Amino acid sequence: MSKHQYSAIVLAAGKGSRMGSDIPKQYLTVCDYPILYYSLKAFEDSRVSQVVLVTGAEDVEYCQKNIVEKYGFKKVLRIVSGGAKRYDSVYSGICALEETEYVLIQDGARPMLDAAIIGRTIAALENIKACVVGMPVKDTIKIADADGYASQTPDRNLLWQIQTPQAFSYQLIRTSYEKMFQLKKQDVQNCPNITDDAMVVEHFSGEKVKLIEGSYENIKVTTPEDLKLAEIFLKK
Ligand code: CTP
Ligand code: MG
Repeated sequence: MSKHQYSAIVLAAGKGSRMGSDIPKQYLTVCDYPILYYSLKAFEDSRVSQVVLVTGAEDVEYCQKNIVEKYGFKKVLRIVSGGAKRYDSVYSGICALEETEYVLIQDGARPMLDAAIIGRTIAALENIKACVVGMPVKDTIKIADADGYASQTPDRNLLWQIQTPQAFSYQLIRTSYEKMFQLKKQDVQNCPNITDDAMVVEHFSGEKVKLIEGSYENIKVTTPEDLKLAEIFLKK
């Protein structure tokens, strides 16, 4: 038996360039708390027993004092520095975890994580090794060609917008990431543009990734409009 059954990696090493604020968006205050607080709080109150927080090298101390100690998050066992890309930060988190059976990977910029979403994620892990939360898309999605014309319109009934948490057996996600970094070293041309963790499992393992229900409120705070939405949702 692993020391931990469920662990989480909370990502907060991004620069927030699309938000365009002076400080990275995960530290902006919405409804009295920094955005990053909400994911950590949701895990603190869940069956997850270990959290690794990944942040910028220059923000490790700030997070220790002004987030983890200030709000008394007991489950945050380590704060480590991330890397240039999201996948580099995820891998730092993977390597920093104490032995665990499963890991839930969460964007620190998604403040609407709640007990219901964590519960559905953990329930799904009873039967499968890889799952991600998301929601069916509401808009029609088109694939553009290089000149900005619509080239394809995929069947909307099959399309999901993907959120976090993304959850995996630890062995599966670690070996998948290691295979990806190996390919990047050998043949960077043929390495897909990795934008989420599920993609790493899809490309570098034989395991299928189950899509489970997140919520339409489970937004990622990305641009300034999202701060207003987050405030409305958090006020409830
Ligand atoms: N992230 C990270 N390390 C990176 C890039 C992103 O830990 N090198 C984290 C962000 O802090 C965020 C989550 O991954 O919690 C989702 O990324 P995104 O919304 O793209 O955040 P940023 O990269 O910070 O924003 P932008 O892309 O606008 O610069
Ligand atoms: Mg980014």
